[in-house]
Parts: sequence; structure tokens; C-alpha cells
Amino acid sequence: MPWIADCPITSHQEVAPGHCRMVIHAPQIAKDAQAGQFCMLQVQEGLYPFLRRPMSVERIFADGLSFLYKIVGEGTRLLSRMTQGETINVQGPLGKPFPIDPSFDRHILVAGGIGIAPFPALADAIKRTLGKTPEVIIAARTEQALVGNRDFRQMGCKVHLATDDGSAGKKAFASEMLEKLRPGPGTVVYACGPMPMMKATHAVCEAAGVPCFTSLEAEMACGDGVCLGCAVEANVEIESERMVRVCKDGPVFDSKLIHWESY
Ligand SMILES: Cc1cc2nc3c(=O)[nH]c(=O)nc-3n(C[C@H](O)[C@H](O)[C@H](O)COP(=O)(O)OP(=O)(O)OC[C@H]3O[C@@H](n4cnc5c(N)ncnc54)[C@H](O)[C@@H]3O)c2cc1C
Ligand code: FES
Repeated sequence: MPWIADCPITSHQEVAPGHCRMVIHAPQIAKDAQAGQFCMLQVQEGLYPFLRRPMSVERIFADGLSFLYKIVGEGTRLLSRMTQGETINVQGPLGKPFPIDPSFDRHILVAGGIGIAPFPALADAIKRTLGKTPEVIIAARTEQALVGNRDFRQMGCKVHLATDDGSAGKKAFASEMLEKLRPGPGTVVYACGPMPMMKATHAVCEAAGVPCFTSLEAEMACGDGVCLGCAVEANVEIESERMVRVCKDGPVFDSKLIHWESY
């Protein structure tokens, strides 16, 4: 069951231009949280903005959580102005986590831009539960938008960098990097980022015959399965079951379930 709590902000820093990491003290949420889940953060000045903002759990500690976010609009701008020592109202953990299956030998995490946010917790969980170290593809438009490289290297992960303009790493898209790594039997892929990137990653996985779990984003109102504002189209025969809710049925989905032709 998700908790709703006023959580003290224990640290809040800019980690790259326009990107921040917030750490909160939230022992109850941390105890229940799993990699791939998210929280709804209340970022209000008066009554505006009215809706909470969804943020993936970046890391899970004994007494709290971290979030890694990109400033894109008013909500995240207000969030970035909150300071250490203030409290923030947090609802979570919400949604389905990434599945971690011991039958796979090779785990490849594919991140596009701020899609890197849920992967530190996943890398930690894979290392802790399976004793295996995942490989990570970090792709972004430019070098300035690449975040998390050092964190994953410190975890012992092999990191493959790619940028659209070639300003860092290989000049390639995330899905092209994945293809170069030749995923094959025993590999499982996890992807998070913009929809076109996940669609292309799904196509590479289908061609290679390997499973792919995608963490989807959608604009959310309730965050808890009620409003249907976050519904996306799924590959389901029965018409009444064709729309799935990113907040409750996801945000992590087997990529085969998503109707990628809609994107
Ligand atoms: C399950 C989930 C987990 C997420 N985790 C993270 C995370 O860890 N780090 C992070 O930086 N962001 C994450 N997001 C996206 C984040 O919630 C949005 O960037 C944020 O709500 C935007 O709020 P805003 O008020 O700043 O921008 P707004 O003023 O609401 O919007 C600014 C621009 O961003 C677009 N936008 C708004 N919300 C979303 C969204 N949910 N997905 C895609 N585009 C959006 C709008 O269309 C608009 O173009 C996540 C979203 C979901 C659904
Ligand atoms: S945000 Fe309301 S159902 Fe998903």
C-alpha cells in the first residue's frame, strides 16, 4: 500500500545543467520501494500546480530515497527551488517494479536522456539479488544531457555512451548501441526514455529474440489507477482491455504488450 508522508529533504543538488538530485528521509516508503516504482511529489506554491508530479525512485536507502529529475516546466522548476531542510509531501511507492529474473546472465539497461533515472536502483537490485553487474547504455542528444555515467562506473557497470551529435561517446542512437552489443540468448533488456527510443529498442530486442521491459511515461493526474489519464494502447485482443494504465498496470511493461505502432 502506498504511503503519503511529509518527508524532510536531506540533500538537493544540481548534478548537470538543468538536472537535479533530491534525497528525502522516508523510511516507510524506502522499506516498501522497489526499482522501477515511482512516487508522486507535491510541488505547490499556493494551489498551483494542482497535480502532483511523478518521479521514478532513483535509489533506495535504508532511511530514504533519491530522485533524479530534469527541469522541463513549472512543476519541476518549483521542485528545483526547494531546499535541504524543507519538507515535501510524497505519495509512494506506486506502480509495478522491474522484474528481476535469475535465469538471465546478461542484463543491459538502455537509457535515453532522463530515462536514466530509475536505473541506479535497478543496477543495485541486480547486483544485490543476483550478484551480477549490468551493462548500461546512456544515450542523449548532447554531452551536456548525459547524466549518471560516473555513478554507474562506481557501481562497476560497463557503461556505453552515445550522443546524437557525437559530442561524447559514439555518435549513435541508444537502439543502435544496443544492436552493436549483440544481445542474444540469456540476455534481458530494460529500457527507459522517450517513446521513439523505446520503440526502436523494442524492435532490436524482437529481432534478437530477447525480452525487453520498458518503463513508460505518461502525463498523470491521480497516479493511482482511478482517472485513466495515463492510459496507453496495448496489444490485447479484447477491446475493453486494450487501454492499460501507466500508473497502475505499469510503468514497467513487457515491451511486447505495448502497441508501438501508435507512437
Ligand atoms: C512514472 C513516471 C516516472 C517519471 N520519472 C521521472 C524522473 O525520474 N525524472 C524526471 O525528470 N522526470 C520523470 N518523469 C516525468 C516528470 O513527471 C515530468 O517531467 C514532470 O511531471 C513535468 O512537470 P512540469 O510541471 O515541470 O512540466 P509541465 O509544465 O507539466 O510540462 C512541461 C513539458 O513536459 C511535458 N511533460 C509533462 N509531464 C510529462 C510526462 N510525464 N512525460 C513526458 N512528458 C511530460 C509536457 O508535455 C510539456 O511539454 C516521470 C513520469 C512518469 C509518468
Ligand atoms: S494517472 Fe490516473 S489512472 Fe493513471
